[in-house]
Amino acid sequence: MFSKGLTFLPLLATTTTALYKPLPLIQAVGETTNVTILSSGINRTYLICIPPKYDGQTLTPVIFSFHGGSRNASQQQELSQFSNPDFNDFAISIYPQGIGETWQGAGNPDNGAHDVRFTNDMINQLESLYAIDPARIWASGKSDGGGFTNRLACDQALSQRIAAFAPVSGAFYVDDVAIPCDPDTVAISCDPGRPKIPILEFHGYKDHTIDYFGNKSRKGACVPSIPHWAQEWAARDGLSIANATTELPATNDTLIYTFGLGEDTGLVTQVTDLNLGHDWPSLVDVGDAQTADFDATPIIMEFFKKHSLA
Ligand SMILES: *[C@@H]1O[C@H](CO)[C@@H](O)[C@H](O)[C@H]1NC(C)=O
Ligand SMILES: *[C@@H]1O[C@H](CO)[C@@H](O)[C@H](O)[C@H]1NC(C)=O
Ligand SMILES: *[C@@H]1O[C@H](CO)[C@@H](O)[C@H](O)[C@H]1NC(C)=O
Ligand SMILES: *[C@@H]1O[C@H](CO)[C@@H](O)[C@H](O)[C@H]1NC(C)=O
Ligand SMILES: *[C@@H]1O[C@H](CO)[C@@H](O)[C@H](O)[C@H]1NC(C)=O
Ligand SMILES: *[C@@H]1O[C@H](CO)[C@@H](O)[C@H](O)[C@H]1NC(C)=O
Repeated sequence: MFSKGLTFLPLLATTTTALYKPLPLIQAVGETTNVTILSSGINRTYLICIPPKYDGQTLTPVIFSFHGGSRNASQQQELSQFSNPDFNDFAISIYPQGIGETWQGAGNPDNGAHDVRFTNDMINQLESLYAIDPARIWASGKSDGGGFTNRLACDQALSQRIAAFAPVSGAFYVDDVAIPCDPDTVAISCDPGRPKIPILEFHGYKDHTIDYFGNKSRKGACVPSIPHWAQEWAARDGLSIANATTELPATNDTLIYTFGLGEDTGLVTQVTDLNLGHDWPSLVDVGDAQTADFDATPIIMEFFKKHSLA
């Protein structure tokens, strides 16, 4: 017998697959390719790594990983390890190349690099060529690239396309205030297009490039202290600016500052390694000056997996 209820049942299932999209000819699962894209009239490039689990049909998340100042996309792939199947075997990882090896907003607001637009153009291209899950696009980056990750979180449009943000050793330049500034109280302009933006940051307490306590004047801009910056995100997300402080298991020098209660616990999280400098926390040498007692990347992956767009 025909049953209306049964007929509609399949519609209740969550869509997890897309129309089959074969990989572009020169690309293969497990491999990294250098892609060129015209953005704002300029040929830009990014590295794309196709994860082992990619089948062209299962809706696949995307991770952007932005390099630090004076670094490049290949170095960021090595540093952040998002293409390492031990850490990530399911999400496409993208390592964009900045113009002049830096990013829009890194103390150079008008350098002609329309990197927010570039990011939007990359997302459009990825969504057209691959089986992408538009609700699970995530962003990370080191130093200037961490600052740029924050800029995307603060952008009306990109904050609605990217689900979660994880800057490391972030350089959160504020360029619309008088300098010298007070890094503990500076007003941070930020205008996300949705409430409750998930933010996870890692910073070395002994970072003297992007000092933990901020910088009154660097590259013509103000750099907020890390606690002030994190607390401003907590406030923006509607959370208390007081945090719960715990130790990261298996380390004896790393603190986790967790903001938010109930289902919002950890919506804003800041991790401070008391012995680390301006480095991506990693147990092994991945190209920074110093190693740490833990790997940041699997913690970032767990955070990303918890957050998708509604
Ligand atoms: C990608 O290709 C561009 C243009 O050919 C080149 O300038 C750039 O160095 C390449 N990037 C990498 C990471 O190989
Ligand atoms: C971008 O690269 C393409 C292919 O190499 C080339 O034909 C085109 O002229 C370049 N465009 C710009 C604006 O450099
Ligand atoms: C990236 O930087 C490394 C280290 O300086 C260098 O060996 C490599 O050639 C650079 N890659 C590109 C594509 O510029
Ligand atoms: C602030 O930045 C300037 C310019 O880069 C640098 O000389 C100074 O050492 C920095 N101060 C701190 C506290 O990091
Ligand atoms: C978390 O709270 C402690 C105690 O008040 C404070 O010392 C620390 O700076 C706070 N951390 C952040 C990231 O706000
Ligand atoms: C804990 O601290 C001691 C002394 O500072 C150090 O030797 C040891 O390696 C640390 N252990 C871990 C797991 O971090």
